[in-house]
Amino acid sequence: MFDQWRKKENEDSVLRPECEDLIRLDNLVKIYDTGAVQVTGLDHINLTVRRGEFVAIMGHSGSGKSTLMNIMGCLDRPTEGHYFLDGIDTAELSSDALSAVRNRKIGFVFQSFNLISRTSALKNVELPMTYARIPRQKRADRAMELLELVGLKERAEHMPNELSGGQRQRVAIARALANQPPLILADEPTGNLDTAASVEIMEMFSEIHKLGSTVVVVTHEENIAAFTDRIVRFSDGRIVSDEKNPNPAEGSGRIHAGKLYAPREESEREEEEGC
Ligand SMILES: Nc1ncnc2c1ncn2[C@@H]1O[C@H](COP(=O)(O)OP(=O)(O)OP(=O)(O)O)[C@@H](O)[C@H]1O
Ligand SMILES: [Mg+2]
Repeated sequence: MFDQWRKKENEDSVLRPECEDLIRLDNLVKIYDTGAVQVTGLDHINLTVRRGEFVAIMGHSGSGKSTLMNIMGCLDRPTEGHYFLDGIDTAELSSDALSAVRNRKIGFVFQSFNLISRTSALKNVELPMTYARIPRQKRADRAMELLELVGLKERAEHMPNELSGGQRQRVAIARALANQPPLILADEPTGNLDTAASVEIMEMFSEIHKLGSTVVVVTHEENIAAFTDRIVRFSDGRIVSDEKNPNPAEGSGRIHAGKLYAPREESEREEEEGC
């Protein structure tokens, strides 16, 4: 299925890379139709995120943050408007093509980690590489390297329920980075963590950002948003402010991401995979 898509989409150059605006949302509307009532999740959103930005999305509960992240993560589609990801109009993609774009271009980190239970940390990190058809040995090696970089090499064979919240989230980050996507989306990644673990996770995102990834993080906490260089605030499905953060928090400097974290562009990917 993936092969078929890849052949077709390559012909159409759908995965063309290196568009300066990695994300462009044009008049995005999301209405949830629950039968009895219609609920507005997003109300005509226009937003551009350039390649390499580190953005926080804030706003009260129910303001549309997760709705936005789900659309940006290609997990859901808007009711109206367009979402351009790296120049691709996602509205024009079939479900299979959308899944494939998601696998290559987006690493998603959730508040509740979303690791597969009764599956080791190593296998969890390997999973996106399985979908991307990376050979078995290569994906096992890379998963181990990623776990080492998030400080969990010794826990590779542990199941998620044998890990702390902070450790689970580090596994989830390693998994998000597996296919070296240019975009990392995180919906309240520190929502279930204590302050120390939260700061560690944000330092990790900060490092990933410095290596060239575009990172968008939803948070309710000002001290978490302080790590980013742009803060977009939502209220009732609309953007109410969009400001630069002139002095992003530095963190302890103890976390150092290796080259393994660097996002991979489509041209490099094609060379490596011979596609
Ligand atoms: N599947 C759904 N069906 C119906 N309404 C929904 C659905 N998902 C979200 N909504 C509604 O859309 C609006 C935005 O919800 P959303 O989950 O995006 O908020 P949020 O900003 O992420 O909130 P929180 O901070 O609590 O996570 C809310 O009014 C919510 O009730
Ligand atoms: Mg939410």
